[in-house]
Amino acid sequence: MYILGIDTSCDDTCISLIKTKNFEIISNIVSSQVKIHQKYGGVYPFLAKREHLRNLPVVFKKAVKNIGPSEIDLIGATVGPGLEPCLWTGINFAKDLAEKLNKLIVPINHIEAHILANCLRPIRKNQKLFPSVCLVVSGGHTQLILMSEVGKYKLIGETRDDAAGECFDKTARILGLGYPGGPAIAAAAAKFKIQNSKFKIHLPRPMIHQKNYDFSFSGLKTAVLYDFQSRTEEERRAKKYLQTMAFEIQQAIIDVLIYKTIRAAKDYKVKSIILGGGVAANDELRRQFILHLKSKILNLNFFVPPKKFSTDNAAMIALTAIFHRKKATKNWQKIKADANLKI
Ligand code: KG4
Ligand code: ZN
Repeated sequence: MYILGIDTSCDDTCISLIKTKNFEIISNIVSSQVKIHQKYGGVYPFLAKREHLRNLPVVFKKAVKNIGPSEIDLIGATVGPGLEPCLWTGINFAKDLAEKLNKLIVPINHIEAHILANCLRPIRKNQKLFPSVCLVVSGGHTQLILMSEVGKYKLIGETRDDAAGECFDKTARILGLGYPGGPAIAAAAAKFKIQNSKFKIHLPRPMIHQKNYDFSFSGLKTAVLYDFQSRTEEERRAKKYLQTMAFEIQQAIIDVLIYKTIRAAKDYKVKSIILGGGVAANDELRRQFILHLKSKILNLNFFVPPKKFSTDNAAMIALTAIFHRKKATKNWQKIKADANLKI
């Protein structure tokens, strides 16, 4: 069976075709709008909507170029959470297609799809998955979710203000490093060398020792802003300052994410830690998670999707549609966008 996934929850127009057998990926097309939003330093929803409308037919054509559209058996479409005007473009495209092809639609939760993206790579039989603690870290969300099996989730903690990705994006904007901020900060941080830096910066690790599983990143952003404002014009433009600051921002975010996730994993006595979302593409976060788990001799399996399936994509949407085939509906007129959809 061929499953088509559609995601337009934010600023990427994503369509993917996968086979139910072995989750074979036939196509995974992501049309990025980065260049358009760069000048605003963030996503501008109505521009994003216009671009999705323009991109969807083109991206669809590319995604199904090796099969006839009539061979599509089922359609998965993201209904939330996300930017409402953007979500509707994907949903309406899916509805038109479903009507034309007389097919069913599975409404998909974008957060669940970020978690299940881990199944897009083979999982060894002896690697115990459940129960697990899932850390979903994206531009809009930072959540810790307890998962007992596919489809059974309990939200145990989330950010009270900015998401981790948002913190990367906003601090990169303060420093003038560009958009999206995560990869820009990671690239600048990779150039940081402690012995070459005269800049001493210490950033807070918000809520790290609080006995809950919530996060807060807006104070970190403010601390970055205050430090930046306290610098001379020359210092603000100095590569070494920007690299030191990028390193410190990345490390502060990583410390909080790792500390709280591992504590949740210990408290709930789970078998694995599962990562998902754009920030999970961060090399240092991945490396330090593995290092911590090894050094603490914690007998936990660690899963993180390949980078191209950590950031937004529709292969994870098609895959989630396979897991939730039973929710497929012909009554797709009733499918609605829900910007605040919860897991
Ligand atoms: O999951 P995603 O692609 O879209 C949302 O659902 O929001 O996540 C986008 C976020 C952005 O904030 C971006 O800066 C961040 O993920 N991101 C990264 C990296 N790549 C993307 N953050 C840190 N390091 C990266 N390598
Ligand atoms: Zn996402």
